[in-house]
Amino acid sequence: MGICERTDQGEHFHIPVMPQEALELLHLPQGGVAVDGTLGLAGHALLMARALGADGHLIGIDRDNASLGQAEKKLSSLGLKVDLLQGNFSTLDKILAGLKVCAVDGILLDLGISSFQLDDAKRGFSFKSDGPLDMRMDAQAQEVLAAELVNTLKENQLEKIISEFGEERFARRIAAAIVMQRAKAKITTTKILADIILRALPRGYTRGRIHPATRTFQALRIAVNEELESLSLGLEVCFKMLKKGGRLCVISFHSLEDRLVKNKFKSLNLSLEGTILTKRPLVASDEECAGNPRSRSAKMRAIERIG
Ligand SMILES: C[S@@+](CC[C@H](N)C(=O)[O-])C[C@H]1O[C@@H](n2cnc3c(N)ncnc32)[C@H](O)[C@@H]1O
Repeated sequence: MGICERTDQGEHFHIPVMPQEALELLHLPQGGVAVDGTLGLAGHALLMARALGADGHLIGIDRDNASLGQAEKKLSSLGLKVDLLQGNFSTLDKILAGLKVCAVDGILLDLGISSFQLDDAKRGFSFKSDGPLDMRMDAQAQEVLAAELVNTLKENQLEKIISEFGEERFARRIAAAIVMQRAKAKITTTKILADIILRALPRGYTRGRIHPATRTFQALRIAVNEELESLSLGLEVCFKMLKKGGRLCVISFHSLEDRLVKNKFKSLNLSLEGTILTKRPLVASDEECAGNPRSRSAKMRAIERIG
């Protein structure tokens, strides 16, 4: 994730998280082939493109069509070969087969959503402005909206999602409040849900550093987009698409994501297929965190394919 701003021309830009660290770990060769599996607003991709140089080939993938349009504007004038495609990085093998690319030198996954998505009220990712409870990254391919989960799941299922994906200690109270409110009227907007969450929490809890609805909204987003399933499969598929000596770098923002990455890398190391390049995950410097608060929870891990 990173900070997203809008220029006077209506173009969005994005400050990528730990950009230099990502570039160093990816160590892309001039003229090589690389994949940004979570293209977003092309913050990282732009740097990757420069590292590949004019003879390189950059493949950018995002589940979100709107982000692809934004990224294209930034990458089109660089001279190298660029392919931008809508899709899930968990299907990278099929995407690369479609492009007739057998293997690549580097892959970056910068997980979660961008501020561009978060700031668009119509997408329903944020409680900061009112919008429909949607939260789908890909509105064409995905059928289940956050509103459906909130209005149809059993109380214990909601509690589990909010507790596990949101790491919210008041998950039980929030789930109970949701079920009570939806019996009166369907919960359809981000503001209605945020108000229910606020009322469900003990008073002191609302004085924390983050907004009290943050964890529940994050949990619903992860559930709607089946993000952990995509990551689990994606790590397997992406690693297989690396050339010998190719590198996979993952930036995660959630302890469950980081655990998946850590365990997968460990098992690849044990089976002598990969060398872990980050004994401990890299985190953003104090300076970066001050300029980009979202980088606070970022963890970066990388592995090189040897087998
Ligand atoms: C944190 S943003 C990436 C920001 C980007 N690194 C930049 O610097 O502009 C994550 C992006 O990945 C996309 N995304 C998340 N999960 C994905 C998946 N499984 N496959 C493809 N794209 C995904 C989101 O739609 C979002 O645009």
